[in-house]
Amino acid sequence: MNPKWWKESVVYQIYPISFKDASGDGIGDLRGVTSKLDYLKDLGVDVIWLCPIYKSPNHDNGYDISDYCDIQPEYGTMEDFDRLLREAHSRGMKIMMDLVLNHTSNEHPWFIESKSSEDNPKRDYYIWRKGKNGGPPNNWESYFSGSVWEYDSTTDSYYLHLYAKQQPDLNWDNQAVVDELHDMIHWWLKKGVDGFRFDAIAHIVKAQGLPDADNPNRLPTVRAYQLFSNLDKVHTLLQNLHDQVLFHYDIMTVGETSGLGPHQALDYVGDTRRELNMVFQFEHMYLDAESPGSGKWNIKPWNLLELKKVMSEWQTVLHNQGWNANYLENHDQPRSVSRFGNDLNYRVESAKMLATFLLTLEGTPYIFQGQEIGMTNPSFASIEDYRDVETLNFYHDMREKGMPEESIMKAIRKKSRDNARTPMQWDNSENAGFSKAQPWINVNSNYMEVNVAAAQKDPNSIYNYYKELIALRKKYKVIVYGEYKLLLPLDPEIYAYTRTCEDERLLVILNFFDKQPVFEWPREINPEGAKLLISNYKPSSNENVNKLTLRPYESRVYLLDS
Ligand code: GLC
Repeated sequence: MNPKWWKESVVYQIYPISFKDASGDGIGDLRGVTSKLDYLKDLGVDVIWLCPIYKSPNHDNGYDISDYCDIQPEYGTMEDFDRLLREAHSRGMKIMMDLVLNHTSNEHPWFIESKSSEDNPKRDYYIWRKGKNGGPPNNWESYFSGSVWEYDSTTDSYYLHLYAKQQPDLNWDNQAVVDELHDMIHWWLKKGVDGFRFDAIAHIVKAQGLPDADNPNRLPTVRAYQLFSNLDKVHTLLQNLHDQVLFHYDIMTVGETSGLGPHQALDYVGDTRRELNMVFQFEHMYLDAESPGSGKWNIKPWNLLELKKVMSEWQTVLHNQGWNANYLENHDQPRSVSRFGNDLNYRVESAKMLATFLLTLEGTPYIFQGQEIGMTNPSFASIEDYRDVETLNFYHDMREKGMPEESIMKAIRKKSRDNARTPMQWDNSENAGFSKAQPWINVNSNYMEVNVAAAQKDPNSIYNYYKELIALRKKYKVIVYGEYKLLLPLDPEIYAYTRTCEDERLLVILNFFDKQPVFEWPREINPEGAKLLISNYKPSSNENVNKLTLRPYESRVYLLDS
């Protein structure tokens, strides 16, 4: 079982710009976070994942860092950070930092030096190349549309950026860069932070020689993920980071690694690898896209059989070999109740069902701010309402390519990262209690109904259901460590599984849709000895346990007689 505190923890992700504004400028801040620690403690949170709070020109809300050892002034000061860390620790909670090591801001002093001349000592901190045939050095496409190359006239060269052009990629082939980053990580660890989420870590190594990707259709740029994702040298670099820095501290680490399946993930999180504790995988996030290769905006309906297949593989392959990080939403993804649930007619029921799913899988669960009250996609009317660089680049790129406005907006309403970034809805006062000033992005119009204050008062709220689930996770070892076994793999509506650990056994039944399918109790399980631990409906008095008719989005968790 190999117990660890980070396996038993529940993580809550904070996107600071949208969490709580204490200073009254419409932008969330660190004092705002500190003011809500009691709320998080009460929910049962153990670890806070704090999205980037470092100094940044904010082209990508802090994922473009211009000083790794300073705080974004709009978020406060280093004293505010130290206080937050102290206050979290005094409540028995930990803080996990979000660290962007693949790239910096183009306003980082390293980059300013690097671009100043070809013989500047910092030149090789980034990836510079001369153009080819009057264009960029290769045909790779950026995650945020267009080429990964940006021309800079100072030295008549191009620099590489996998994300926005304000986010130049660091050159990890340069030992000086590696040393600088190790020193900086050490600096944060000495301060007492409890872990790291390593942003875009799968991409820190690019294919030798930066070759063109296959381009049968002769497009101006092509998605070349395999040429800069999860390459072998990433593992060497992570092992060095582990052995030289991380290993000396009792911390938790999670890497953001798109483009891999569970077997490949074991290279990062396998018990003997000395790399990371867990990774965020993306396979379930691409179930509503035509294919990962065609990007996230080509939408298709997701299907439960595929979801079961993907999640079951991760659950079984990693069992006893590594550890899962489970999530259904984050700051880059739409709201889960709008995506996998039903935010029109069954918001409360389906959000609770999804919570049951998230918190009864093997792996550390990550809850994104607002998920615990069932916040939904805002469905903004016009492109003017959106702020996210990825969304805006996509919009302009598609307009240029002649795609009709309404088709673009349809994709954006479903998939924009801003779906998750609207201000946290604390109460029904102006701006949802997030700020006294006009927020940097509009509040979701449903805040009068969907907010923390209302949820705390209502014993049947999504919030109180999360609280109960978290408490159960802490009470029963089987929920954390139990071995997962899928039941009914071919049922298109019901997702059911057991979890088994020593003498404890759990049965989870989830109805993923608004129909009323019948769950037939498996023959090998005796319903007589089953104890209902939690459900999002009250059991009816005359129900036939052997043949259970599930109500829309019903979820049940039973503790079984072993
Ligand atoms: C990660 C972050 C995302 C950011 C990108 C570039 O995917 O989660 O928000 O835009 O990396 O740093």
